[in-house]
Amino acid sequence: MSISIIGRSIAESATLKLNETFAILKAKGEPVIHLGGGEPKSKTPIDAITNFTGLINSGEVRYAPVDGTVEMKQAIIRYTEEFYGRKVTPQNVIASSGAKQAIMVALQTILNPQDEVIYPAPYWVSYPEMVKLCGAIPVPVFAEDGTFYPSMLDIERHFTSYTKAIMLNSPNNPSGAVYSEEFIANIVEFCEKKGIYLIMDDIYHRLVFEGKKVPNVYDYAKDHTENSKIIVVNSVSKQYAMTGFRIGWAVANKKLIEVMANIQGHQTSGTSVLLQKAAAGAINGIQSSVDSLRETLENNRRVMLQQLNAFDGLHVTPPDGTFYTFVDFSKYDKNSTRLSKFLLDKVRVLTMPGVEFGMDGYLRLSYCGSIKDIIKGIERIKWAIDPNSPNELYIGERKLVRDWI
Ligand SMILES: Cc1ncc(COP(=O)(O)O)c(C=O)c1O
Repeated sequence: MSISIIGRSIAESATLKLNETFAILKAKGEPVIHLGGGEPKSKTPIDAITNFTGLINSGEVRYAPVDGTVEMKQAIIRYTEEFYGRKVTPQNVIASSGAKQAIMVALQTILNPQDEVIYPAPYWVSYPEMVKLCGAIPVPVFAEDGTFYPSMLDIERHFTSYTKAIMLNSPNNPSGAVYSEEFIANIVEFCEKKGIYLIMDDIYHRLVFEGKKVPNVYDYAKDHTENSKIIVVNSVSKQYAMTGFRIGWAVANKKLIEVMANIQGHQTSGTSVLLQKAAAGAINGIQSSVDSLRETLENNRRVMLQQLNAFDGLHVTPPDGTFYTFVDFSKYDKNSTRLSKFLLDKVRVLTMPGVEFGMDGYLRLSYCGSIKDIIKGIERIKWAIDPNSPNELYIGERKLVRDWI
């Protein structure tokens, strides 16, 4: 069969695939624990539900403007002013189907085939594939000191005449790293000097711990005109636990937004009016759900770190934000795909293989689920791979006997 070169180059989303596997096992009644999840479990904010039901009950659900409803754009404008101290106009914002589409359309707007996009590793699974979808070349940058925090020098070493953009996600999925003020200041200066785009994927920026603050990219920019090449992406998915609503947005200069809207208009049209209505409700409504989500996650993180500390020889960097920990399991198995499969097969715990985020030997463990799942899940992992564990483990009524160490 004839498949396009780009089509052939795109890998299946490993995270979505593993989520499907989890759902199948769960439906079969298997006692699976999901430590790979990418969505908080809290309920949709009440203001989102009220807004949504108001519109659906009206029975008048029509096409949305391609770049977003008036209400949604106003909500994004308010959000940008509140969290970034930046005043923008409706022509500077676009609502999309999740941060995913906002990033994708932004990349399609700025990239030509063979252009390069630099981003730090570990990185979100979709970045390389999104860049490849544009016929462009993903350039992950690993910190030379082996941490999750690349230096400016690490980034500069990968800059070429083909570099079109740098893409940052802070706090980072999967490491939870918040990049320092100094790093962001240097990146902004570098992008402005070189005339390249800076895409900030900020979807976790309100989910940070221990009073940390995520540096605001605009604080370091010199160019605040319509020539600014900064693109800030956000979404209701994580902060409001509204993953299923598929609403995200981008803030950028007017020309970019105009072209992004042209592209989006032919891809999906405007994202659903109903879902924008709900998203605007969440953004404009009472914000206590975000605070309580952050507190829950901070507590879950503490439990996760406590549990992980019970392992010998595991290297754990406490995450600054998000709901992920990215843990070096290479002492137990350098092949993260094999280890992840082994843990699912033997003790029914789902983890995400680090190789999908650019670093083999690591597993991404999420703490967005329940405390019980975190404790039980890590206990099972420890039992499966730690040679000092007892030979038997009970999962409910089921007795497991370890015959592999
Ligand atoms: C870093 C990062 N960016 C973007 C997205 C996509 O967000 P959305 O669900 O709003 O499309 C995700 C989702 O997991 C993510 O982790």
